[in-house]
Amino acid sequence: MTPAPIVARTTSPGDTRRLAAALAGELTAGDLLLLVGDLGTGKTTFTQGLARGLGVTDPVTSPTFTLVRAYPCAAGSVSTLLHADLYRLDRLSDVVDLGLAEMVEDDAVAVVEWGDVAASVFGPDVLTVRLAAPPTGDARPADGPVGERPDEDRIVTIHAAGTWSARRAAVAARLAPWTSAGHGRRRPPPESR
Ligand SMILES: Nc1ncnc2c1ncn2[C@@H]1O[C@H](COP(=O)(O)OP(=O)(O)OP(=O)(O)O)[C@@H](O)[C@H]1O
Ligand SMILES: [Mg+2]
Repeated sequence: MTPAPIVARTTSPGDTRRLAAALAGELTAGDLLLLVGDLGTGKTTFTQGLARGLGVTDPVTSPTFTLVRAYPCAAGSVSTLLHADLYRLDRLSDVVDLGLAEMVEDDAVAVVEWGDVAASVFGPDVLTVRLAAPPTGDARPADGPVGERPDEDRIVTIHAAGTWSARRAAVAARLAPWTSAGHGRRRPPPESR
């Protein structure tokens, strides 16, 4: 049975990076994350935070023409972050050709934007992260302190499938500051980057 999703909320691009960096602390070699969400919802921004949490020092940008990029990691047991973007994927067989599944088996973590289009290729053991704007009517009031922008809120919904289901509680604990099970809605700290 698939456990209930973890639902978190971020309030700015920097906040999404911080959430992803917190999640990175839970990752070990062989992990596969699929990022899902409409254009411009923050999949690459999330990946930047994940990279920071894994000790990547190179700037992370969209792997538009290459489909997949590899970033060396300085922190922990993960040696490489593989970042793929399947938006321009023509055929599903191209994903197989990328060999992500094999690359990840070594000592890498893979994060795949638009990963849902190729979910069938990746097998059952995936952590799926969905980014979306909050539903209409659920925006924070715009009259908050300077710097708070309700249009920068994102709902981050995380599904732990396959072997990830046994790690759901650990993931939820990392993300507690962003979920209602944690502190609830926080004032966003000043942008760190
Ligand atoms: N809370 C937030 N989290 C992430 N990004 C946010 C947030 N609020 C605003 N943004 C803005 O939304 C945009 C997200 O862009 P990003 O490239 O990360 O999206 P994407 O989902 O990767 O897009 P694409 O579908 O083109 O790959 C950026 O301009 C970012 O500054
Ligand atoms: Mg992107």
